This record gives sequence, C-alpha cells and structure tokens, in this order.
Amino acid sequence: MKNVKFAVLPVAGFGTRMLPLSKSVPKELLPLGSRPAIHYVVEEAIAAGIKHIVLVGHAQKSAIENYFDVNAELDGQLRRKGKDELADSLNWLPDDVTVSMIRQGKPLGLGHAVLAARPIIGENDFAVLLPDVVLDPYTTNMSADNLAFMIDAFAKDGHSQILVDQVADEDVHKYGIAKLSDTSAVDDQAATNASFKVAGFVEKPSLADAPSKLAVVGRYVFSHQIFDYLANTKASVGGEIQLTDAIDALISEYGVNVTTMSGSSYDAGDMQSYMQAFMHFAQQQLAGGE
Ligand code: G1P
Repeated sequence: MKNVKFAVLPVAGFGTRMLPLSKSVPKELLPLGSRPAIHYVVEEAIAAGIKHIVLVGHAQKSAIENYFDVNAELDGQLRRKGKDELADSLNWLPDDVTVSMIRQGKPLGLGHAVLAARPIIGENDFAVLLPDVVLDPYTTNMSADNLAFMIDAFAKDGHSQILVDQVADEDVHKYGIAKLSDTSAVDDQAATNASFKVAGFVEKPSLADAPSKLAVVGRYVFSHQIFDYLANTKASVGGEIQLTDAIDALISEYGVNVTTMSGSSYDAGDMQSYMQAFMHFAQQQLAGGE
C-alpha cells in the first residue's frame, strides 16, 4: 500500500493576472469569503490525508508561511481579552500537520518549482496542488472525492494520477491537455471521479492541435520517480521547464492515469473567475456554511 503524506504547493508566481490586488498581497492570500484562497487548498490536502505541506515560493511570499504559523503575540492578546474561541479558531491546523516553505531560486517554470521540493520530499510519493485552482468545497466531499480519490487509486495500482476536466473551446490554449486513445468512455463519466490510462499531454496547444478538451486541473499524485524526469527536463513551451514534459517521460516508462474531476473548480489566479469564486464562497458563508 503506497502512502501519500506529502504535498507540494507552488506559490512562486507573481500573479500578474490579479494586479493591482496582487501588487503587495500574494495572490494566494486574497480572500474567498472569510478566508484566503490558499486556506481552502490546504484544507483540501489535509482532508485527503496529507500531513506535510511544502510551499515553494520566494522572499515576497513569506506572508503565506506566516498565515499557517501561530502568531504567539496575537494569540496571547486575544486570550488576555477573553477571546479564547477566536484564538482557537486561528489555530485550526491539526497538530500532526506541518507546513514548510522552500525557495525556488530562479523562476524557471512549474516543473522547476516542483523539483525544488525534492530536498524535503526525497523518496516519498507526493501530491501537487496548484493553489490558483480552488475546488468547490460546498459541492464535493474532500475526504473522498478528487485528490482523496486519486491518492486511493494510486495506492491501489501505483500509477501516478492527474486530475482533468472538460473545458470550453476558447479555454483549451490555457491548459495542459490530455491525449487519450478513447475519449468516449471519459465523456460518459463527466462530473464523477473515474480513472483512465493516458497516452500523453500537450501543454497549452491551439484548439486545432489539441488532442482533446480534457484539461489538467491542477491536482496531481506522483510517484517519486517524477523527480528524476524533472531533473532531466529541458525548457520548452514559454521558455519554462514544464511539468507536463516530465509527465510524458513518466508515462512512457511507468504509465500514468487521468482522473476525471467531480464538482466544480475556480481559477483564483484570474480576475474574472476570482470574482465569481469570491461571490460563491461569500454566498455560501452568508447562508450559514463554514
Ligand atoms: C499550469 C500547468 C497546466 C495546467 C494549469 C492548471 O499552467 O502547466 O498544464 O493545465 O496549470 O491551472 P499555468 O496555469 O501555471 O500556466
């Protein structure tokens, strides 16, 4: 039985699509309802059984690490004023979960960011969650669906898992797109979790070149061998070291599966989608949701 207890969250992006909001506040800390966006992504990881979260960032992102640490001064002041309940609510991270941060150094792409976590993760298998993408916690069961499902599937058959979802024609060029030998089976599974063997990925293709409309959503479960492929991956699309190129190499040797997404997701790194996400989370919370 393979255990997945580590997760990498790359947080080194400058968030240019979220300016001016992201000029002095990391985009990952922008609010969705009453909490920063990355709070929900970390909750998702913990619900799926992750115990060690590795943030990959840079000097301007230390506020994210602080968000997951205890602020002893604030804690003391709240308790002195009898606001113990509020102080307790800030210490929500379970005792057996650690959050650490490592720096990427040069901004050489997503593949390079994931590789930067190798000194902490070593020979462990691990998940990757891209915190721009926030899965809707109000329509899915985070301890069974999506990442949790993928970790379970990986434990059963040892194949790395990549979460995918159908996207509209005009959005194909923004994503890694999966190539499958038969997409009809996948179409039948729309909106539920199911795993399929994948033949490869194309990073940000034009619609004409896209092998399908199944886009990589931003949740991955990898066997640690991916690090060896990442270490040998050269810069490609956009001059960056792409995670999808390393996945293609992993496919040829070990086989990789895609998992179809259940529920809905928001791109909190894009202004329009962020605003929709904010309204959705705020409405849920105003109606009494957590
Ligand atoms: C990254 C990945 C891409 C994936 C996308 C999901 O791209 O390279 O394969 O589909 O995240 O959000 P980015 O959005 O960082 O350009």
